[in-house]
Order: sequence, then structure tokens, then C-alpha cells
Amino acid sequence: MMENFDRHRRLRNHPAIRDMIRETSISAKDFIYPLFVTHEKGRHAIPSMPGVEHLSLEELRKEVYELSRLGVPAIMLFGLPAVKDEVSSEAYAEQGIVQQAIRVIKEENKDLLVATDVCLCQYNPAGHCGIVHGDQILNDESLHYIAKTALSHVAAGADLVAPSDMMDGRIQAIRHMLDEAGYVQTPILSYSVKYASAFYGPFREAADSAPAFGDRRSYQMDPANVREALREAASDLAEGADMLMVKPALAFLDVIKTVRDHFDVPLVAYNVSGEYAMVKAAANAGWIDEKAIVMEMMLGFKRAGADMIISYFAKDVARYLGA
Ligand code: PBG
Repeated sequence: MMENFDRHRRLRNHPAIRDMIRETSISAKDFIYPLFVTHEKGRHAIPSMPGVEHLSLEELRKEVYELSRLGVPAIMLFGLPAVKDEVSSEAYAEQGIVQQAIRVIKEENKDLLVATDVCLCQYNPAGHCGIVHGDQILNDESLHYIAKTALSHVAAGADLVAPSDMMDGRIQAIRHMLDEAGYVQTPILSYSVKYASAFYGPFREAADSAPAFGDRRSYQMDPANVREALREAASDLAEGADMLMVKPALAFLDVIKTVRDHFDVPLVAYNVSGEYAMVKAAANAGWIDEKAIVMEMMLGFKRAGADMIISYFAKDVARYLGA
């Protein structure tokens, strides 16, 4: 009998062939692990994010050791300040929680790549990412404070800054301030394509950064748009961003793919808090196979075109891979 179809299954029978023809791979080296640091003592669980905790500076030392043992090469640092005020003073204070944390990490292990989230929302009572006037989130007035925050992180020893505020012109402002201070070699990872998303819910509980009024739709992107993502990314690159990010990841794989196809700079996917919480909740209920689901998600991010993944699962993935 003449066959008139392809035998795709021929390459699926032997495990070694499957391994050899695999197009996408995951390594612990692909990951950036988010960490939350506080002035409080000890470790405190974040109820909506099982396995993720607020860490004191002392606990941070242990965490740094654990990460290097697991082979996770990088962290993204978030801080919970002691005080919040209108000009987000603790965001750029020399003794701010993030600045202290950076110095502690570098003391413990100077090789761990320290990236910092640069934003004001945790640091002002309005819980918005810029300077607030009435019900407006001011753009140009915020730039100075955002840039100052980035500079203070770098001065404390951060290797890379990642602005997440979504003000226009922030990359230019940060690049300018870093260059003036002599930090011409410090890269900027821009949260360029950041959507106004319900997937950040658990994070806002974790970081105590939910907006006190309104929402973030006047500065974060509309989840319905993808062409706009290209304009955001192009502006950030023109202003001096070295790497781009798409956030969230799971519901935005087409955006990752589109950005990857249009720009040749390294691309990061942020597998956000709500994506983590959904998997943990279903896994804890016994409804899904957590390990298989997590690895399939990570493959999806990379297959879509992400070079790196920021994920609360980073340590789990490293363990799955045999660390
Ligand atoms: C700060 C910031 C947020 C996240 C990262 N940086 C929250 C927000 O924009 O509301 C979300 C991270 C996550 O959900 O895991 N602007």
C-alpha cells in the first residue's frame, strides 16, 4: 500500500532521539528569583504566595547561600519600607531597605547578580508608581525620583536596574543620571511592556503596594494591545534600555513572540505573582501535577522567545533540574 502521510511518530519513540531533537531547553541559569526584604525580624509567609516569604536582612544572608547552592544566578530585589511619604523618600535613602539589602548580599556573595525593581509604589501612601497630585499620577515630576532611586541602588552595589513604573522618559532619565555618576557600564532592564493586570494581585498584598485610589491604567498598558507594545519597546531602546521585559507572561505569550520578532536585544518574561498563586492553589488542592505544569509553563515562555525568566518558581525549577 502506498502511504500518503508523514510518520511524525518515528522521531518520538526513542527517548534519546526525543532529547536530541528538543528545540527548547530550560536551565537554572535562565532564572531571576524575586526577593522581598523588610526591616522586620525573621521570615514571614505571604499567604497568597505559598513558599514565598518576607525576609529580614539576616534571613537574606541564608537565602543568598541557598540560591548559590541551587545554581540560581540572579535575583530581583523588592523592598518593604519602614515609612511611606509623598516623595517616596525611602526608595532612594542610603539606609533604605533595598540599599541595605544590596550591601548585605554583596558581602555574602559578590557573584550573585543583583537586579533591583525601581519603582515608587511601595514607598508612598497613594501606592502609585509615580509622584501623585490630586488624582493624577504626574509623569515628568516622577522622573527625577525614579532616576534617583536607580542611582541609589547602583551606588549601593546593584548590578542592574529594572524600572517598573511605566512613566514615559524614565529610561532616558535613569541612563543620564547613571552616566553622570560614572556608572556607564550598568545595564538597564526595562519593564517596557507592562500591562495593567489583575495577575499582580498577590504581589500587591506581598509588597503592600496596592493603589489607595483608582488603578494603574493611566500608565500601564491595556491588555488588549500588542502593536502598542512595539512602540513602548522602541522608545525604551531609543532611550538606552539594554534589555526588554514583557509582563505578565502566561496570558501574553503572543506579546513575547512579537517583541522577540521585532527586536534583537535580550528579552525577559516575568512570570508574575498571580500566575504563581494559581498553580500553587491548584497543586495544593491536588488537581494538577505541579512540577509538570511549571516546567511546561517555563518551556512556553522560552519557546515564545524569552531568554530569561523572572519567576517565584526559580528555586523549584532548579531543584527539578537536579540541583
Ligand atoms: C511595582 C511592581 C509590580 C510588580 C512588579 N513590580 C506591581 C504593580 O505594578 O502593580 C508585579 C509583580 C508580580 O505580580 O509578581 N510597580
